[in-house]
Amino acid sequence: MARILVTGSADGLGRATADTLLAQGHDVIVHARNADRAKTLIDFVDRGAALIIADLSKRREALDAVHGLNDVEAVDAVIHNAGVYSGAAVIPVNVVAPYLFTALLRTPTRHVYLSSGMHRGGHADLGRLDWDGERPSGSYSDSKLLVTTLALGVARRWAPAVLANAVDPGWVPTKMGGAGATDDFDLGHQTQERLVTDQGLTVTGGYWFHGQQQQPHPSSQDPKVQDQLLAALAGATGIELPRR
Ligand SMILES: NC(=O)c1ccc[n+]([C@@H]2O[C@H](COP(=O)([O-])OP(=O)(O)OC[C@H]3O[C@@H](n4cnc5c(N)ncnc54)[C@H](OP(=O)(O)O)[C@@H]3O)[C@@H](O)[C@H]2O)c1
Repeated sequence: MARILVTGSADGLGRATADTLLAQGHDVIVHARNADRAKTLIDFVDRGAALIIADLSKRREALDAVHGLNDVEAVDAVIHNAGVYSGAAVIPVNVVAPYLFTALLRTPTRHVYLSSGMHRGGHADLGRLDWDGERPSGSYSDSKLLVTTLALGVARRWAPAVLANAVDPGWVPTKMGGAGATDDFDLGHQTQERLVTDQGLTVTGGYWFHGQQQQPHPSSQDPKVQDQLLAALAGATGIELPRR
């Protein structure tokens, strides 16, 4: 049994992931952006889940959530699932928050980052991004290229102690995916669940789609690009990725 944090678990893939992990008997920490959205998670809390609240577009709230978790109990794994498609929050929610949770949570030995097939159309122009989210800067595709690069960079820096992988869930019908999405919803969350629970799994630095590894965008695999991203995130947040 593992203690697993699923960010963005009030809806969509994150909610389904938390539901499965709870049903499997894991200790699950669910997460909502505010107290109102947390009401949708009461049934999970009744089933034993712990709950954290943080608007991940706000740096202070993300940091408070991490410090709160470090103060309580060891987290074994994180599924960095919360995501937005457009607006100024794209970079803070899709990239900066996963970085902060990765760099500051002391105990996880597994990290899973939600990417997207759309990462292939991203351009990682680090110098032009607004990491604070004061104005829209990167696109959704940019953010998913960056979070894929983050996953692979963390995997390289922290191997073999920590397993870090990225997952493309496919185009699935959620609030973000829309009703017309054509991929299977269950296949969209099963890979993340396996990556945090399969004790026989040793893969790190993988990019997964429906249980199989694929090749992500070449720039995400480039150690120089990974190091540039980690340096940019450290510069923007004042928080270095520690050694593991
Ligand atoms: N659906 C697809 O086809 C698809 C395809 C590729 C990748 N993905 C990725 O899969 C992940 C899950 O997406 P989904 O399809 O399940 O979308 P979703 O139903 O919109 O769920 C996204 C979750 O993230 C939360 N969230 C968004 N902004 C937040 C913030 N500022 N603070 C805290 N939580 C926040 C949402 O909270 P609220 O419920 O309060 O809004 C929601 O629980 C995302 O990273 C997405 O990019 C999805």
